[in-house]
Amino acid sequence: MAILVTGGAGYIGSHTVVELQNAGYDVVVMDNLANASEKVLDRVEAITGKKVPFYKADIRDREGLEEIFTKEKIDSVIHFAGLKAVGESVQKPWEYYDNNITGTLTLVDVMRKHNCKNIIFSSSATVYGNPAFIPITEECPKGQCTNPYGWTKSMLEQVLTDIQYADKEWNVVLLRYFNPIGAHKSGTIGENPNGIPNNLMPYITQVAVGRLPKLNVFGDDYDTPDGTGVRDYIHVVDLALGHVKALQKLEPGCGLSIYNLGTGVGYSVLDIVKNFEEANGVKIPYEIQPRRAGDIATCYSNADKAEKELGWKAQFGIREMCEDSWRWQSNNPNGYDA
Ligand code: NAD
Ligand code: UD1
Repeated sequence: MAILVTGGAGYIGSHTVVELQNAGYDVVVMDNLANASEKVLDRVEAITGKKVPFYKADIRDREGLEEIFTKEKIDSVIHFAGLKAVGESVQKPWEYYDNNITGTLTLVDVMRKHNCKNIIFSSSATVYGNPAFIPITEECPKGQCTNPYGWTKSMLEQVLTDIQYADKEWNVVLLRYFNPIGAHKSGTIGENPNGIPNNLMPYITQVAVGRLPKLNVFGDDYDTPDGTGVRDYIHVVDLALGHVKALQKLEPGCGLSIYNLGTGVGYSVLDIVKNFEEANGVKIPYEIQPRRAGDIATCYSNADKAEKELGWKAQFGIREMCEDSWRWQSNNPNGYDA
């Protein structure tokens, strides 16, 4: 039996495929390559020494999915495929709802036809909106999202919850990621955003590598120790290992579970700049700018539930996250476009 990884050529997906293969799982990847390069899979193979069966297919394409489920013996699905650019989702809400929601509905429908009812879904801390309390536990109520991307995550959590409620054969794990950064130690796979990055760490690494002149720090007047936004950065390999642990939890009768995947530690934007500079000996020029619309001051997790129930705890500290992000970017200044 194999694990189908949708969006497996993407940033978190590719790191998860490595850890799944290392843990002995058979993996099948599907991705429409909307935000990924097929070269990733060669690099994954070079790391693990195992072939990665790959289908170039879209989760909205029922026939494409049928082909995969007919040819392969899929036991469980780890569902990463989705569009994730917050700003773009505000400009193109229809495309985001169609891709993420229609896509997931189609995937789940094909899964149940093939009697595959185990799914791990990539959700996000964004579903907490402006969190009711910090550190955020899974009990924290979901909040108002500030953009269509966030709403797709919040809505899909509800869709999967309702499907599992109606049919107890479904086993569903919703993983709420905090802020993934870092890269595999090999420096051969990593985050490769299209165009100018929206997220902090890829922006910093592109400044460091000389592709961008300086970092814009969005606001220094938040109610935080240094006035800049505080987030829970988590190493992508820790996140990937969280999926391996969640998969072990996906047994018959496990029902619906929700876990935060974070470190429980908050760092400000300026903490990240400082740690990156110290870890890598590279200067990051920056300039304070107005706040970015939709941003919140502080967001970090309490991830005790994942530790207690999955036996998972983030291992990597901020220094390694900064070193590994930089190793990837400096070895691959243009990402996968050599
Ligand atoms: P990514 O863009 O690198 O990976 C997503 C992959 O899905 C890409 O390879 C893309 O080509 C593929 N894809 C998109 N639409 C598809 C479709 N219709 N059919 C098939 N493949 C499709 O993003 P990532 O950072 O690896 O994120 C993975 C998942 O985790 C996403 O669902 C994302 O929303 C979620 N998430 C990411 C973060 C983050 O900060 N990176 C935080 C929280 C949640
Ligand atoms: C963003 C998304 C969120 C998603 C999360 C993980 C928004 C509003 N939210 O969260 O939906 O789940 O990524 O992918 O985009 N910053 C700068 N300069 C920059 C970039 C960021 O100062 O060039 C600051 C931000 O203001 C924030 C922190 O760095 O305080 C982290 O930003 P980012 O990496 O974009 O993540 P989030 O905003 O937490």
